[in-house]
Amino acid sequence: TEAVPVIAIDGPSASGKGTVAACVAAALGWHYLDSGALYRLTALAARRAGVAWDDESGVAAVAARLDVVFDGESIRLAGEEVGEAIRTEEMSSGASKVAALPAVRAALLFRQRLFRRAPGLVGDGRDMGSVVFPDAKTKVFLTASVEIRAERRYKQLIGKGIEATIQPILQDLRERDERDSQRSVAPLRQSDDAELLDTSALTIDEAVAKVLAWAAS
Ligand code: CDP
Ligand code: CDP
Repeated sequence: TEAVPVIAIDGPSASGKGTVAACVAAALGWHYLDSGALYRLTALAARRAGVAWDDESGVAAVAARLDVVFDGESIRLAGEEVGEAIRTEEMSSGASKVAALPAVRAALLFRQRLFRRAPGLVGDGRDMGSVVFPDAKTKVFLTASVEIRAERRYKQLIGKGIEATIQPILQDLRERDERDSQRSVAPLRQSDDAELLDTSALTIDEAVAKVLAWAAS
Protein backbone atom coordinates (compact mmCIF):
# COMPACT_ATOMS: atom_id res chain seq x y z
CA THR A 1 0.00 0.00 0.00
CA GLU A 2 1.17 3.50 -0.79
CA ALA A 3 2.12 5.75 2.13
CA VAL A 4 -0.35 8.50 3.04
CA PRO A 5 1.05 11.77 1.57
CA VAL A 6 2.34 14.46 3.91
CA ILE A 7 3.02 18.17 3.38
CA ALA A 8 5.50 19.34 6.03
CA ILE A 9 5.60 23.06 6.82
CA ASP A 10 8.32 24.18 9.22
CA GLY A 11 9.57 27.61 10.19
CA PRO A 12 9.96 30.21 12.93
CA SER A 13 7.24 31.66 15.11
CA ALA A 14 4.66 33.98 13.51
CA SER A 15 5.86 33.29 9.97
CA GLY A 16 2.31 32.16 9.09
CA LYS A 17 2.89 28.38 9.18
CA GLY A 18 -0.27 27.57 11.10
CA THR A 19 -2.50 29.77 8.97
CA VAL A 20 -1.03 28.54 5.69
CA ALA A 21 -0.99 24.87 6.78
CA ALA A 22 -4.64 24.98 7.87
CA CYS A 23 -5.69 26.62 4.56
CA VAL A 24 -3.73 24.06 2.52
CA ALA A 25 -5.33 21.22 4.50
CA ALA A 26 -8.80 22.70 3.97
CA ALA A 27 -8.17 23.19 0.24
CA LEU A 28 -7.13 19.55 -0.18
CA GLY A 29 -9.55 18.07 2.34
CA TRP A 30 -6.61 16.64 4.29
CA HIS A 31 -5.99 16.28 8.01
CA TYR A 32 -4.03 18.98 9.85
CA LEU A 33 -1.48 18.62 12.66
CA ASP A 34 -0.54 21.69 14.73
CA SER A 35 2.52 20.08 16.33
CA GLY A 36 3.34 23.21 18.34
CA ALA A 37 0.06 22.72 20.21
CA LEU A 38 1.41 19.42 21.60
CA TYR A 39 4.46 21.19 23.06
CA ARG A 40 2.22 23.93 24.43
CA LEU A 41 -0.13 21.33 25.96
CA THR A 42 2.85 19.58 27.52
CA ALA A 43 4.03 22.85 29.08
CA LEU A 44 0.54 23.57 30.43
CA ALA A 45 -0.02 20.04 31.74
CA ALA A 46 3.39 20.07 33.45
CA ARG A 47 2.61 23.41 35.11
CA ARG A 48 -0.72 22.03 36.36
CA ALA A 49 0.93 18.86 37.66
CA GLY A 50 3.56 20.92 39.49
CA VAL A 51 6.37 19.54 37.31
CA ALA A 52 9.16 22.05 36.55
CA TRP A 53 9.83 22.78 32.85
CA ASP A 54 13.48 21.71 33.19
CA ASP A 55 12.68 18.35 34.84
CA GLU A 56 13.29 16.21 31.74
CA SER A 57 11.98 12.84 32.92
CA GLY A 58 9.06 14.47 34.75
CA VAL A 59 7.96 16.49 31.71
CA ALA A 60 8.47 13.49 29.40
CA ALA A 61 6.13 11.45 31.61
CA VAL A 62 3.55 14.25 31.40
CA ALA A 63 3.94 14.31 27.57
CA ALA A 64 3.49 10.54 27.33
CA ARG A 65 0.24 10.65 29.29
CA LEU A 66 -1.29 13.79 27.71
CA ASP A 67 -5.06 13.30 27.65
CA VAL A 68 -5.90 15.54 24.70
CA VAL A 69 -8.73 15.68 22.17
CA PHE A 70 -8.44 17.86 19.03
CA ASP A 71 -11.82 18.64 17.53
CA GLY A 72 -11.81 21.37 14.88
CA GLU A 73 -10.89 24.62 16.65
CA SER A 74 -11.35 23.06 20.06
CA ILE A 75 -8.53 21.51 22.11
CA ARG A 76 -9.47 19.70 25.32
CA LEU A 77 -6.96 18.67 27.96
CA ALA A 78 -8.38 16.18 30.46
CA GLY A 79 -11.83 17.28 29.29
CA GLU A 80 -11.22 21.02 29.74
CA GLU A 81 -11.14 23.51 26.84
CA VAL A 82 -7.59 24.95 26.72
CA GLY A 83 -7.43 26.46 23.21
CA GLU A 84 -6.86 29.92 24.72
CA ALA A 85 -4.82 28.86 27.75
CA ILE A 86 -2.05 27.33 25.62
CA ARG A 87 -1.62 30.50 23.49
CA THR A 88 -0.36 32.83 26.22
CA GLU A 89 3.17 34.25 26.01
CA GLU A 90 4.05 32.22 29.10
CA MET A 91 3.05 28.94 27.44
CA SER A 92 4.85 29.94 24.22
CA SER A 93 8.02 30.27 26.19
CA GLY A 94 7.28 27.11 28.25
CA ALA A 95 6.66 25.16 25.05
CA SER A 96 10.02 26.15 23.63
CA LYS A 97 11.71 25.18 26.91
CA VAL A 98 10.16 21.70 27.16
CA ALA A 99 10.70 21.23 23.40
CA ALA A 100 14.46 21.40 23.91
CA LEU A 101 14.40 18.22 26.06
CA PRO A 102 15.12 15.07 23.97
CA ALA A 103 12.97 12.76 26.13
CA VAL A 104 9.98 15.08 25.66
CA ARG A 105 10.38 15.09 21.88
CA ALA A 106 10.68 11.30 21.89
CA ALA A 107 7.51 11.00 23.97
CA LEU A 108 5.54 13.09 21.44
CA LEU A 109 6.87 11.44 18.27
CA PHE A 110 4.49 8.48 18.04
CA ARG A 111 1.47 10.65 18.87
CA GLN A 112 2.28 13.03 15.98
CA ARG A 113 2.58 10.16 13.49
CA LEU A 114 -0.95 9.00 14.41
CA PHE A 115 -2.29 12.09 12.60
CA ARG A 116 -1.12 10.63 9.29
CA ARG A 117 -4.36 9.26 7.91
CA ALA A 118 -5.85 9.07 4.41
CA PRO A 119 -6.28 11.03 2.26
CA GLY A 120 -3.31 13.08 3.52
CA LEU A 121 -1.80 15.24 6.26
CA VAL A 122 -0.51 18.80 6.44
CA GLY A 123 1.70 19.27 9.51
CA ASP A 124 3.27 22.49 10.79
CA GLY A 125 6.04 22.98 13.33
CA ARG A 126 9.83 22.95 13.50
CA ASP A 127 10.75 19.36 12.61
CA MET A 128 7.86 18.02 10.49
CA GLY A 129 10.10 17.46 7.46
CA SER A 130 13.33 16.62 9.28
CA VAL A 131 12.25 14.22 12.04
CA VAL A 132 8.55 13.40 12.28
CA PHE A 133 7.77 12.84 8.57
CA PRO A 134 11.16 12.57 6.84
CA ASP A 135 9.45 10.90 3.87
CA ALA A 136 7.01 13.82 3.37
CA LYS A 137 6.23 14.35 -0.29
CA THR A 138 6.39 18.15 0.01
CA LYS A 139 8.61 20.01 2.49
CA VAL A 140 8.41 23.75 2.95
CA PHE A 141 10.50 26.04 5.12
CA LEU A 142 8.20 29.00 5.66
CA THR A 143 9.73 32.18 7.00
CA ALA A 144 9.55 35.99 7.07
CA SER A 145 11.78 38.70 8.50
CA VAL A 146 11.64 39.00 12.29
CA GLU A 147 10.25 42.56 12.02
CA ILE A 148 7.36 41.43 9.82
CA ARG A 149 6.69 38.46 12.10
CA ALA A 150 6.58 40.76 15.15
CA GLU A 151 4.10 43.01 13.33
CA ARG A 152 1.91 40.03 12.42
CA ARG A 153 1.89 38.76 16.00
CA TYR A 154 1.13 42.29 17.23
CA LYS A 155 -1.85 42.63 14.89
CA GLN A 156 -3.05 39.16 15.85
CA LEU A 157 -3.06 40.11 19.56
CA ILE A 158 -4.69 43.52 18.98
CA GLY A 159 -7.31 41.77 16.83
CA LYS A 160 -8.15 39.54 19.79
CA GLY A 161 -8.50 42.59 22.03
CA ILE A 162 -5.24 41.84 23.85
CA GLU A 163 -3.04 44.83 24.68
CA ALA A 164 0.39 44.57 23.07
CA THR A 165 3.50 46.51 22.06
CA ILE A 166 5.99 45.60 19.34
CA GLN A 167 9.24 45.68 21.36
CA PRO A 168 8.57 42.81 23.81
CA ILE A 169 7.13 40.72 20.96
CA LEU A 170 10.30 41.28 18.92
CA GLN A 171 12.41 40.30 21.89
CA ASP A 172 10.38 37.15 22.56
CA LEU A 173 10.60 36.13 18.90
CA ARG A 174 14.38 36.63 18.87
CA GLU A 175 14.79 34.60 22.08
CA ARG A 176 12.57 31.79 20.81
CA ASP A 177 14.30 31.75 17.37
CA GLU A 178 17.63 31.49 19.17
CA ARG A 179 16.52 28.69 21.52
CA ASP A 180 14.73 26.76 18.75
CA SER A 181 17.65 26.94 16.30
CA GLN A 182 20.51 26.38 18.78
CA ARG A 183 19.16 23.29 20.58
CA SER A 184 20.85 19.96 19.95
CA VAL A 185 17.74 17.92 19.07
CA ALA A 186 15.62 18.75 16.03
CA PRO A 187 16.84 22.35 15.73
CA LEU A 188 14.88 24.77 13.56
CA ARG A 189 16.64 25.08 10.22
CA GLN A 190 15.91 24.75 6.53
CA SER A 191 16.87 21.28 5.36
CA ASP A 192 18.34 20.71 1.90
CA ASP A 193 15.20 19.02 0.64
CA ALA A 194 12.81 21.78 1.74
CA GLU A 195 11.48 24.54 -0.52
CA LEU A 196 12.11 28.02 0.90
CA LEU A 197 9.01 30.20 1.13
CA ASP A 198 9.69 33.73 2.39
CA THR A 199 6.27 35.28 3.03
CA SER A 200 7.55 38.75 4.03
CA ALA A 201 5.94 40.24 0.91
CA LEU A 202 3.24 37.61 0.30
CA THR A 203 -0.40 37.48 1.27
CA ILE A 204 -1.76 34.33 2.91
CA ASP A 205 -3.52 33.36 -0.34
CA GLU A 206 -0.30 33.73 -2.32
CA ALA A 207 1.61 31.57 0.16
CA VAL A 208 -1.13 28.92 0.11
CA ALA A 209 -1.14 28.87 -3.71
CA LYS A 210 2.63 28.37 -3.75
CA VAL A 211 2.44 25.38 -1.38
CA LEU A 212 -0.43 23.84 -3.36
CA ALA A 213 1.59 24.22 -6.57
CA TRP A 214 4.60 22.45 -5.04
CA ALA A 215 2.36 19.71 -3.70
CA ALA A 216 0.84 19.16 -7.14
CA SER A 217 4.17 19.01 -8.99
O1 CDP B 1 1.94 29.45 12.99
P1 CDP B 1 2.81 30.67 13.01
O2 CDP B 1 3.22 31.08 14.36
O3 CDP B 1 3.99 30.55 12.09
O4 CDP B 1 1.98 31.90 12.41
P2 CDP B 1 0.41 32.15 12.34
O5 CDP B 1 -0.13 32.23 13.70
O6 CDP B 1 -0.21 31.23 11.36
O7 CDP B 1 0.37 33.60 11.63
C1 CDP B 1 0.68 34.79 12.30
C2 CDP B 1 -0.21 35.91 11.76
O8 CDP B 1 0.31 36.35 10.49
C3 CDP B 1 -1.67 35.53 11.49
O9 CDP B 1 -2.50 36.51 12.05
C4 CDP B 1 -1.79 35.53 9.98
O10 CDP B 1 -3.07 35.91 9.54
C5 CDP B 1 -0.76 36.57 9.57
N1 CDP B 1 -0.21 36.52 8.20
C6 CDP B 1 0.22 35.35 7.63
O11 CDP B 1 0.14 34.30 8.27
N2 CDP B 1 0.77 35.30 6.36
C7 CDP B 1 0.86 36.42 5.63
N3 CDP B 1 1.39 36.35 4.41
C8 CDP B 1 0.41 37.62 6.18
C9 CDP B 1 -0.11 37.65 7.48
O1 CDP C 1 2.91 29.52 16.63
P1 CDP C 1 4.35 29.59 17.08
O2 CDP C 1 5.28 29.34 15.92
O3 CDP C 1 4.70 30.79 17.85
O4 CDP C 1 4.59 28.40 18.09
P2 CDP C 1 4.24 26.88 17.97
O5 CDP C 1 4.40 26.38 16.58
O6 CDP C 1 2.94 26.67 18.64
O7 CDP C 1 5.39 26.21 18.83
C1 CDP C 1 5.66 26.56 20.19
C2 CDP C 1 7.05 26.04 20.53
O8 CDP C 1 7.04 24.61 20.44
C3 CDP C 1 8.15 26.49 19.56
O9 CDP C 1 8.80 27.70 19.97
C4 CDP C 1 9.12 25.32 19.54
O10 CDP C 1 10.08 25.42 20.57
C5 CDP C 1 8.25 24.12 19.90
N1 CDP C 1 8.00 23.24 18.74
C6 CDP C 1 8.95 22.32 18.40
O11 CDP C 1 10.01 22.28 19.02
N2 CDP C 1 8.73 21.44 17.40
C7 CDP C 1 7.59 21.47 16.70
N3 CDP C 1 7.41 20.58 15.73
C8 CDP C 1 6.62 22.44 17.01
C9 CDP C 1 6.84 23.33 18.03
